[in-house]
Amino acid sequence: MKINLTETVLRDANQSLIATRMPFEKYEKILPVMDKAGYYSVECWGGATFDSCLRYLGEDPWERLRKIRKLMPNTKLQMLLRGQNLLGYKHYPDDVVRRFVAASVRNGIDIIRIFDALNDMRNIRVAVEETIKNGAMASGAISYTTSPVHTLDAFVKVGKEMKEMGVSTICIKDMAGVMSPKEAYDLISALKDNVDLPIVLHTHCTTGLAFMTCMKAVEAGVDVIDSATSCFSGGTSQPATETLNYALSQFGYQTGLDSAVLKEVNDFFKPIRGEFLDNGTLNPVVMGTDANALNYKIPGGMLSNLIAQLKAQNALDRLDEALLETPRVREDLGYPPLVTPMSQMVGVQAVTNVLLGERYKSISKEVKAYLHGEYGKAPGAVNQDLVKKALGDEAPITCRPADLLADGYEEGKKAIGDLAKTEEDVLSYIAFPQQAEAFLTERKARDERKVSYTITPIED
Ligand code: CO
Repeated sequence: MKINLTETVLRDANQSLIATRMPFEKYEKILPVMDKAGYYSVECWGGATFDSCLRYLGEDPWERLRKIRKLMPNTKLQMLLRGQNLLGYKHYPDDVVRRFVAASVRNGIDIIRIFDALNDMRNIRVAVEETIKNGAMASGAISYTTSPVHTLDAFVKVGKEMKEMGVSTICIKDMAGVMSPKEAYDLISALKDNVDLPIVLHTHCTTGLAFMTCMKAVEAGVDVIDSATSCFSGGTSQPATETLNYALSQFGYQTGLDSAVLKEVNDFFKPIRGEFLDNGTLNPVVMGTDANALNYKIPGGMLSNLIAQLKAQNALDRLDEALLETPRVREDLGYPPLVTPMSQMVGVQAVTNVLLGERYKSISKEVKAYLHGEYGKAPGAVNQDLVKKALGDEAPITCRPADLLADGYEEGKKAIGDLAKTEEDVLSYIAFPQQAEAFLTERKARDERKVSYTITPIED
């Protein structure tokens, strides 16, 4: 029996532990070694890497991808894409989504993992279609959560829809690390029985369940597991690659991984981890185990946000009320999975409801947009009194949100003008206008300095 592992150190581990602050030069030298490890794939791009390159690292994300591709010619490169939201937080028009996906594949991506926060399949359809059209592998990711409407049947229905779209694998994306061993066993068994596709498990160690969950997933027939090299594993990151490899091998599973190479990879990243620990980027708090998420049914990151919000209002003594209010708001909104941007939306509204002493006295712009249907279809029924209160007589939209968006590429191209040298530059600008414009301006200045230096090297 074969179990494959996807290494996440370059993307999710980097994002979960050190806020995606690892620059390309830090890991450049190890890429040819990683190329020989035998991973199913290396998740190296998408998620927050794109934003972080432009905003904090002064890197061109596209160039980073091309360099990784060059140094890892034999490994499948994988990215995470938020469906119609691409790598941002709003819906983009279809022409932009199509060009972004095509450019990702053209610059080196082999596998695109695509999800929607609400599991509204209309929001991933265009990205999946375009991935397949460009010859890459589309992996449909189910945003995992628990609620009265998130039944096995509901998840199987999502899996079937993904299969109809033509995805090659189905990923169960447990972004909060709340999926228990039993839930994993039941869900993977149900998907295996009803949807004939390989299953990928993505979880986090946040609550301490991950290794147990992985083992029950293996018993249920999971095909691929996401893991991170051991020094970048645990806490809010993935379970450790070498540890899983060791345990799985004893059971006779073939992982295809070379233990000596895995050790070399981990030895390389260890001092890098040390640097981030020393400079404060890696906060030891994220390395701990926090089982609170299992009691409150809210992800760890959201809990710390709630605390921060209340602290800012000098109202930390209202935390218990906010924790009781959070699931009620979630219920009113039809049980959205608590993943970005829904976790922020639900958390802020719950705190507002508590602090103002009256529920929905003030309704945030985001919650109004959500109730108006601008994020897609809610998983369950939304509270109709709340809809009336938020929208008055206006009826919510029922179409796919992006159906209301006009094409955006040409407009973006015009707006950024000469600063953009390639289609990729334009796409960076459309995805993150301010950050990309600042980056492209800085790049232009850098290039001009280079030119003047080569023309007049002896002037000074
Ligand atoms: Co994740």
